[in-house]
Amino acid sequence: TTYKLLLLPGDGIGTEIMAEVKTVIDWFGKRGVASFEYEQDLAGGAAYDAHGKAISEATMKLAQESDAVIFGAVGGPKWDSVPYDVRPEAALLRLRKDLELFANLRPAICYPALADASSLKRELVEGLDILIVRELTGGVYFGSPKEIVTLENGEKRAVDTQLYTTSEIERIARVAFDLAKTRSSRVASAEKRNVMKSGVLWNQVVTKVGKEEYADVALEHVLADNCAMQLVRRPKQYDVIVCDNLFGDILSDVAAMLTGSLGMLPSAALGAPDATTGRRKSMYEPVHGSAPDIAGQGISNPIAMIASFAMALRYSFGLVEEADLLDRAISSVLSKGLRTGDIYTEGTTKVGTKEMGAAILAE
Ligand code: NAI
Ligand code: MG
Repeated sequence: TTYKLLLLPGDGIGTEIMAEVKTVIDWFGKRGVASFEYEQDLAGGAAYDAHGKAISEATMKLAQESDAVIFGAVGGPKWDSVPYDVRPEAALLRLRKDLELFANLRPAICYPALADASSLKRELVEGLDILIVRELTGGVYFGSPKEIVTLENGEKRAVDTQLYTTSEIERIARVAFDLAKTRSSRVASAEKRNVMKSGVLWNQVVTKVGKEEYADVALEHVLADNCAMQLVRRPKQYDVIVCDNLFGDILSDVAAMLTGSLGMLPSAALGAPDATTGRRKSMYEPVHGSAPDIAGQGISNPIAMIASFAMALRYSFGLVEEADLLDRAISSVLSKGLRTGDIYTEGTTKVGTKEMGAAILAE
């Protein structure tokens, strides 16, 4: 099978880390298990400089036609004062919206070699492997009305609307259950049914989907605030956590800090399966931004970007063994003591972006 990728390096360290993941993609293409065709294009500030827009229509068309978008990072001080609608981050929002990427997957994996970099004690995080499945296109981020109005007495009132429909909850629940089946078959659903109607519906719908379609997956319900506490108290109790857009934003940042560095965290955003081909639209990107403070120095950590491609192999292409191989290569390079500056500790070997990429390939 040939998969079509669209590579959007973006700005800052985006271009450096994309160069490394490209060599990895080429390597996997040469193995012959699957082949990858890719095109590369501009996004973010780079696209703004070229077209006055964070992403052009031609690029959007390529994204629509691709099996997966591999995205670097966008933004930087150079574009801090460009108009809101065309600012670099608008590229990401446009891609998420037009490709209807409603499921955000944020793994929190603690590599044994980095367990001491965690905010928690080694024994609490060593071997940690959580997957947070966050609803990405609904909830309070998009619900209407969303406004600040001035009242008759001169006071202001701000309104955000938390809104979810049955079908929106069903489809994110299915993503979580399907993923759990490829892992240890446990899902924790986090909401606040005690104070929110959307939490009540969320709880009911996830329960129903679980019972009717995934009887073999263990489902647990947890209040979102308790979930945050449990993540810091005893994170390894979780496998897959499914939650709405806002709770997912917070819980995934909490989980991220259990693993050490921003430069290590991959993510995926998935759309609905196509009615005829069954393929999902998808985008893979590191969690971190364009790191303008270190851009151009060749010292950024390419692991989050490379691990994002491993997620593409796993979740978009079903190439589980290939994904495992790549994840193991990352883990062994770390075990051998190679570190970019962001994860460097005394007694390890400091390397640059290219050396880290090459070491992972060699492994
Ligand atoms: P950032 O994630 O770019 O950087 C935060 C800190 O982490 C910096 O000290 C940076 O050097 C370090 N860091 C991040 N990734 C690293 C890597 N791979 N290797 C080594 N060190 C790394 O976040 P910041 O500084 O808040 O934002 C910088 C720019 O990136 C802004 O314009 C922001 O809007 C944009 N941004 C873009 C995102 C995206 O494209 N998805 C996400 C977050 C921020
Ligand atoms: Mg966040």
